[in-house]
Amino acid sequence: KKVVLAYSGGLDTSVILKWIKKTYNCEVITFTADLGQEEELDGLEEKALKTGASKVYIEDLREEFVRDFVFPMFRAKAIYEGRYLLGTSIARPLIAKRLVEIAKKEGAQAIAHGATGKGNDQVRFELTVMALAPEIKTIAPWREWNLNSRKALITFAKENGIPIPVSKEKPYSCDRNLLHISFEGGELEDPWQEAGEGTYLLTVPPEKAPDSPEIITLGFEKGNPISLNGENLSPATLLKRLNILGGKHGVGRIDMVENRFVGIKSRGVYETPGGTIIYIAHQDLEGICLDRELLHLRDSLIPRYAEMVYNGFWYSPEREALQEFMDKAQERVTGEVRLKLYKGGVYPLGRRSPFSLYQSDLATFEEDEVYNHKDAAGFIRLQGLRFLGAKKNA
Ligand code: ARG
Ligand code: SIN
Repeated sequence: KKVVLAYSGGLDTSVILKWIKKTYNCEVITFTADLGQEEELDGLEEKALKTGASKVYIEDLREEFVRDFVFPMFRAKAIYEGRYLLGTSIARPLIAKRLVEIAKKEGAQAIAHGATGKGNDQVRFELTVMALAPEIKTIAPWREWNLNSRKALITFAKENGIPIPVSKEKPYSCDRNLLHISFEGGELEDPWQEAGEGTYLLTVPPEKAPDSPEIITLGFEKGNPISLNGENLSPATLLKRLNILGGKHGVGRIDMVENRFVGIKSRGVYETPGGTIIYIAHQDLEGICLDRELLHLRDSLIPRYAEMVYNGFWYSPEREALQEFMDKAQERVTGEVRLKLYKGGVYPLGRRSPFSLYQSDLATFEEDEVYNHKDAAGFIRLQGLRFLGAKKNA
């Protein structure tokens, strides 16, 4: 019997590795994805083998993550409950997809993850597995074992020769990748309590940002960001550069209480510096590229699309069909936006596109020949026709 475990090398997944081996009396293969979390991957293989893994997979998935997951989601302008740019949500289907692929290759019967029974991540992992390979089972130790406190976990680790990290335990549950870092737990569990030291890793507070603004130009092709200041960059490289720029200027901090799929309200602090710059630039470019009716219809579907991603339905017929619509809508979203980054803000300064629908001869306040002011009188009169009857009956 074999199990493929999503493994980070931290205390939790180390304990899980050992616990699965003991409880299920099986081989455990570990899988670690580099999604840009900037954690030490050197020595991870040795550590996994020492903790009892029979085989170790470590893969750099950064370009695939941004190209095939983050950018399609950004083409849809996805945002959850008006603020969360879905940095954790969008990483889960990719990790689960690779777990499934490795399980199939290795002839494993199950995959395992370290998500708790109270969160969204368990749902995202498991729905992906069910969609891609329903024959593969999932083991979620947090829902099975009785190691339900930090102390129990550490005792188990000690008894089983798992090294306990010497550094002081972070008080937060964090998840980092190229798109964002999230913080939950600790003092954040009190929604009135301000986020403390130890949160905010990628961005300076706006008041500590440089006093002089920075002007950048972001280029798009069919809704995908492709260049920075005229230089074409790969998806992961571009996002990484924008993270540094945004971080320096305090861009992309969010502190919110959100609704988890399982029905719990949860306080989260997020930093999405590069993603926030892309979101604002993209939105601005759409202003000149998108037809009004298409824009409004698309906007009405954003909450639905975002919910699909948040709730773990990336691999679902509805998300895939909606993606086709979103991508079709982006066909003409090509061009450039000039932006100012300044003390936490991202301010568009100008935009241009070969597909611009903006007609200066129509928009002008100067005299023009195309638009007849007199037409507007009839347009308004007919729009208001139905109010006249209502007034009479009142
Ligand atoms: N609340 C966010 C979400 O559901 C972040 C979850 C963070 N996950 C974690 N394992 N720390 O997408
Ligand atoms: C977890 O519960 O494992 C993390 C938080 C979440 O999944 O929402």
